[in-house]
Amino acid sequence: MLKPLTSAVQLNLAAAIKHRRLGYRGWCGAVNTAYDPLDPTTAAQPFAAYDALHRGGRVHYNPRRQTWILHRLDDVRAALRDTDQVTSSQGVTRIRMAADLVVVTDGEQHSRLRKQVQPAFTRKALDSWRAIIDDLAVELVDTMITQPGGDAVQNLAIPMPLRVIAAILGIPDTDIADFRRWSEDSVRLIDFTPTAKGVVNTTRALRAAVSLRRYFLRHLAAGDLKGSNTVLGRLLEHSTDGSLTDDQLFYIAILLLIAGNETTTNLLGGMVDTLARNPEQYDKIRADPDLIPMAVEEQLRYTSPIQNLHRYTRAPYQVGDVTIPSGSRLLLSFGAANRDPQAFDEPNSYRADRNPRMHVAFGYGAHMCLGAPLARMEAHAVLRELVSRVTRISVDGSTTWSTNSSLRGPTHLPVTLHTH
Ligand code: HEM
Repeated sequence: MLKPLTSAVQLNLAAAIKHRRLGYRGWCGAVNTAYDPLDPTTAAQPFAAYDALHRGGRVHYNPRRQTWILHRLDDVRAALRDTDQVTSSQGVTRIRMAADLVVVTDGEQHSRLRKQVQPAFTRKALDSWRAIIDDLAVELVDTMITQPGGDAVQNLAIPMPLRVIAAILGIPDTDIADFRRWSEDSVRLIDFTPTAKGVVNTTRALRAAVSLRRYFLRHLAAGDLKGSNTVLGRLLEHSTDGSLTDDQLFYIAILLLIAGNETTTNLLGGMVDTLARNPEQYDKIRADPDLIPMAVEEQLRYTSPIQNLHRYTRAPYQVGDVTIPSGSRLLLSFGAANRDPQAFDEPNSYRADRNPRMHVAFGYGAHMCLGAPLARMEAHAVLRELVSRVTRISVDGSTTWSTNSSLRGPTHLPVTLHTH
């Protein structure tokens, strides 16, 4: 015979039913929302949804995705700072995971892993790569000038970061085509979708990752890719916790590929799109090239190459009047925070001279992007080359935007660069 429910169980049941129906609004003050970054149409054009979040409450909850959403700049920055309560150690995507990787660790483990990679991005290291980056900007802008109506994504935004990473890793020119194919295929491992196509893509990605690993380990064993001017050589020289193994060096190389390529591609593609669609702002930069660093920061704010990342709470987390329960999945919307009307005047306008110093396109706090100076250097070089040679950028068709829920940038952008 069934025992009568105890009052505690009855209470829990009532709370669970209420929770399913209302989300947490019923008892904690968060506003329920249907905003869903996994919806492809929203992911491609999220800005109307961000405006709606800003018009609503301070904390939102999507019951279908069981995700809490922070969208104000101050709240996103506070959550990024509070690694005790809002941790990365259970992953930074929708799917919980744990790994000995800098991005998904906190505390001492994170400091140790961050220190392993940091020597790659010292000022001295960056200065030593400046000429490579400047030369590439000249070559790729040249290609675009000679191909009116060509795709800025294929001709500039993809090859720029990929060839920079290849060059600083010390990959010889003869291997670049293979390296590009393996890198592009293997980074798809991070957006596994449980569909037939997803499985096929993942199989391809795994095969590419195996080829990439074989390539690296063969060359590392032969002493290649460890020159004093390469990223891995530099890391070996500065290794504080004993010598890094070839396997560890390979994982660092993969981390740089995953963290640095598509993000920078999104920044560069977004920049060409913005400048083509805001000719008066482009003219402003041409008239005063000292604006270039500011214009790039504004670009980072305006198109946020990573629109959002997740965190998990490991204690009740208070935001204003709302207490987000321990163990919750939290979406930090960098894209919305960078368009917060309380932080930025007319946030949906691109203003080359805005100087949006507080933006969170590179994150904030302990996990702030390690590759930011490299990404900035690439964008500065491309913009410098554009304004010194190109009088006007015109779009020859509509821009197609990615539909990935987190990484956002143009995937097709036909443009003509005019030189007079
Ligand atoms: C425009 C280009 C880029 C953007 C928008 C970007 C954005 C970000 C963001 C938002 C984070 C913080 C992650 C978090 O808080 O969980 C991050 C971390 C990181 N980024 Fe970038 N990134 C870019 C380029 C690069 C490049 C070029 C590299 C290296 C080649 C790189 C390497 C890293 C690494 C290693 C971390 C992890 C740092 C840590 O967890 O302590 N990024 N990036």
